Amino acid sequence: MRRTFLIGLCILLLFLTACTGRNDPSAGKQAANEGLIVVGFSQVGSESDWRLANTKSMRETFSEENGYRLILKDAQQKPENQLAAIREFVAEGVDYIVVAPVLEAGWDDALAEAKDAGIPVIIVDRMIQTSDDSLYTCWVGSDFRLEGDTAVKWMERVFQGRTHLNIVHLQGSLGSSAQIGRTEGLLDGVARNKNWEIIYSASGDFNRVKGKEIMEYVLKQYSNIDVLYCENDNMAFGAMEAMSVEGRTFGLNGDITVISFDATNAGLTATLEGGINFNVECNPLHGPRVEAIIKQLIRGEIPEKLAFVEEESFEATTITQRDIDERSY
Ligand code: AHR
Repeated sequence: MRRTFLIGLCILLLFLTACTGRNDPSAGKQAANEGLIVVGFSQVGSESDWRLANTKSMRETFSEENGYRLILKDAQQKPENQLAAIREFVAEGVDYIVVAPVLEAGWDDALAEAKDAGIPVIIVDRMIQTSDDSLYTCWVGSDFRLEGDTAVKWMERVFQGRTHLNIVHLQGSLGSSAQIGRTEGLLDGVARNKNWEIIYSASGDFNRVKGKEIMEYVLKQYSNIDVLYCENDNMAFGAMEAMSVEGRTFGLNGDITVISFDATNAGLTATLEGGINFNVECNPLHGPRVEAIIKQLIRGEIPEKLAFVEEESFEATTITQRDIDERSY
């Protein structure tokens, strides 16, 4: 009886392993035999609309019809999951590793293992800090500091002549490039404009639920908020919900000016409707950009080490429906 049970268990395990193909050291080689280029992609998570659009762009680009096998591992916003993913990709023998880093720090050891295995590593979206630039092939993504500066320039223009400005600062995931750049932009603005004051600052981890919770708390503490500087659209949606529930006015005709980042379809719709006053684009369509880099590597060319994506910004007073319709995310 016990023997039959054990045999059954072994068969089930074999079946499951065959189905998932996870952690199979020969997965890369198998795909290579089928003529596919194997790309291991460590994605941050699914915290925002931006992230979903980014995942979609990667999946559409690295499809089997296009000659790729994409192994996507979702890190669920945990840096330790990303390090494990890199090691799994190395063990699986993928052709290329692509990483959208959760945080900037802590990469050297895992990337050294990929380098020793001779696997090129392409960093996408957020940046990494490393003591050795040769540990990654190249990076493509947004200039997050420029995004922050763009928002601050807009504030300087719009609030010119104001004697005092109370700012609530909703930050993204602390230690991520998107948070660091956008926060640095604001802090520099506050240092330059002595009448600006950050009255409250907290991280909402780039997601709607935390954005709402933080704003609910802030609204109970402060009645004198002039500006909400919110480091992405999803946190802004949560904060706007909290403001509506509390009966506080915001946006184009309200008391609280809302600044957001990403300019996703939903974010721009909120801008057109006047809920968000100013929205700075962060472009998530990195699939084709990463593919162009892989093609360069295949041709034996050296890609640019750092490639910044050009981005726009949108004001509630001038945005049109066409601006929204022209975008796929
Ligand atoms: O790294 C890009 C940022 O990450 C986007 O602004 C945010 O929405 C996402 O979660």
